[in-house]
Amino acid sequence: MDLLKKRILEDGTVLPGNVLKVDNFLNHQVDAKLMDQIGAEFARLFKDEGVTKVVTVESSGIAPALTTAIHMGVPLIFARKHKSLTLTDNLYTASVYSYTKQVSNDISIDKRFLKPNDRILIIDDFLANGQAVQGLLEIAKLANVKVEGVGIVIEKSFQKGHTMIEKSGVRLESLARIASLDNQKVTFVD
Ligand code: G4P
Ligand code: NA
Ligand code: NA
Repeated sequence: MDLLKKRILEDGTVLPGNVLKVDNFLNHQVDAKLMDQIGAEFARLFKDEGVTKVVTVESSGIAPALTTAIHMGVPLIFARKHKSLTLTDNLYTASVYSYTKQVSNDISIDKRFLKPNDRILIIDDFLANGQAVQGLLEIAKLANVKVEGVGIVIEKSFQKGHTMIEKSGVRLESLARIASLDNQKVTFVD
């Protein structure tokens, strides 16, 4: 998606540790118009997959997932991050390890919101090591729902997530694919 790549080059900054900071249009301040265009693009890409629900993880995934859900005319579900203390009988739960923060967090979706005939599209803002997506794939398995695809706004193609999803056999569409962030410079795939 050229508009997105242009925006990353204009407004993204590369931090030490191969982190792309995009908090002026995606991760803190949100460019609502751009999110709408991103949602329209995901809806176009996955229009023939019979998607019944868009699924993401709070919080940064919600903006692009919501606009996708609007364009597809289906509900959005965001998995919640929580510490497993209270009753979890009514939840589908998976553990997600964050390499950047070096902590594991549980993510959960209430059983009422995923039913066996659902066909879900997973949307997230970033794909790095793929732990968040893997957690959602686990939840989909627990809920016995079909995953029709994964849509990512910004993929760091040099990290493990891309290969992990490819191996799982699920269709992956990333709107911007970053080959490298070396020398504080964004280089796209192709
Ligand atoms: P992953 O395995 O799910 O791909 O992510 P990883 O543990 O590597 O990264 C942890 C968090 O950092 C994730 O957000 C992920 O989206 C985000 N992240 C990874 N690489 C980058 C990057 O280069 N730039 C930015 N801006 N974010 C990155 P999270 O903490 O789970 O979600 P949220 O609380 O922000 O919604
Ligand atoms: Na994030
Ligand atoms: Na995210």
